[in-house]
Amino acid sequence: RKTIGVMTSGGDSPGMNPFVRAVVRAGIYKGCKVFCIHEGYEGLVRGGEKYIKETQWHDVRGWLVEGGTNIGTARCKEFRERSGRLKACKNMIDMGIDALIVCGGDGSLTGADRFRSEWPSLIEELLQTERISQQQFETYQNLNICGAVGSIDNDMSSTDATIGAFSSLDRICRAIDYIDATANSHSRAFIVEVMGRHCGWLGLLAGLATSADYILIPEKPASSREWQDQMCDIVSKHRARGKRKTIVIVAEGAISNDLSPISCDQVKDVLVNRLGLDTRVTTLGHVQRGGTAVAFDRIYATLQGVEAVNAVLECNADTPSPMIAIKEDQITRVPLVDAVELTQQVAKSIESRNFKRAISLRDSE
Ligand code: F6P
Repeated sequence: RKTIGVMTSGGDSPGMNPFVRAVVRAGIYKGCKVFCIHEGYEGLVRGGEKYIKETQWHDVRGWLVEGGTNIGTARCKEFRERSGRLKACKNMIDMGIDALIVCGGDGSLTGADRFRSEWPSLIEELLQTERISQQQFETYQNLNICGAVGSIDNDMSSTDATIGAFSSLDRICRAIDYIDATANSHSRAFIVEVMGRHCGWLGLLAGLATSADYILIPEKPASSREWQDQMCDIVSKHRARGKRKTIVIVAEGAISNDLSPISCDQVKDVLVNRLGLDTRVTTLGHVQRGGTAVAFDRIYATLQGVEAVNAVLECNADTPSPMIAIKEDQITRVPLVDAVELTQQVAKSIESRNFKRAISLRDSE
């Protein structure tokens, strides 16, 4: 019988509440105690019953349909230092927690894996400084950790979809549908900026789903001349065929091949100056992250929550920390360190413009 702590960390994403609900209920069903750790790693570092609360079956009632994360999330600087992780370790032992499930992006999961690998030296230090007893030291020899990827960006390697990505995509498409109507009425062009950090998944898929005229994403940088000529050529052809509206999607991480960021205003200037189009910019912002999860995210977050509980119950000191992933519609476990490492390698290859390597790394997943 384990005592499980569950937390959400980093930027919130739709589906985090269904995930937490599933962990709480699957944990209780399997005979475990479950604690929700509020405010991400911040709550773990601060500790006490204000932040680490035992959660019952009925406490998560209705969470399947709620957006955001009801247990709060944060980006915590203190946890990046060993002193912060030492406090977190002590707080967990005080609460009797011996398994941790973290739902967050790659930064949060990297932190989780580091915490686990450092755990033996953390408890050793707590024993030496008499902050835990010999008995606690022996009881809490191992920490089982499991990660699940909650992020709208869909930027994690080794999984086909992160929790929240399809909800965000749905929201973007609806917003563009609304913009379509007004664009068509005024025969205008709209530049729509979408989130995704350094990943173009949201921009690319939203473009496909709304038949945008042109899409700019970080993974396909071109020289300013190239993308501007190509965009103007395509938009002019569409206009010549009688199309009254123009939609250009710009992923927030879009870059030219000299690595300079492409801003929406820059794209707007090109459409105004070269094609004379009446053009507006819409930055969708955090609307993309809020709101309820679509059915896909509710279902897969639930299945992943159950699998995360199974994983922490089955893992032992010799098993690498798992990350719950979706691969070809199957819920599966992959080693957390490998997934994080691959994600960072892809990001570095894109940054250094080594696109062939980035693509081959993604294909190798
Ligand atoms: O990683 C999720 C994300 O929404 C990114 O798409 C975006 O760049 C970033 O978080 C925004 O962060 P914040 O909410 O801190 O402004």
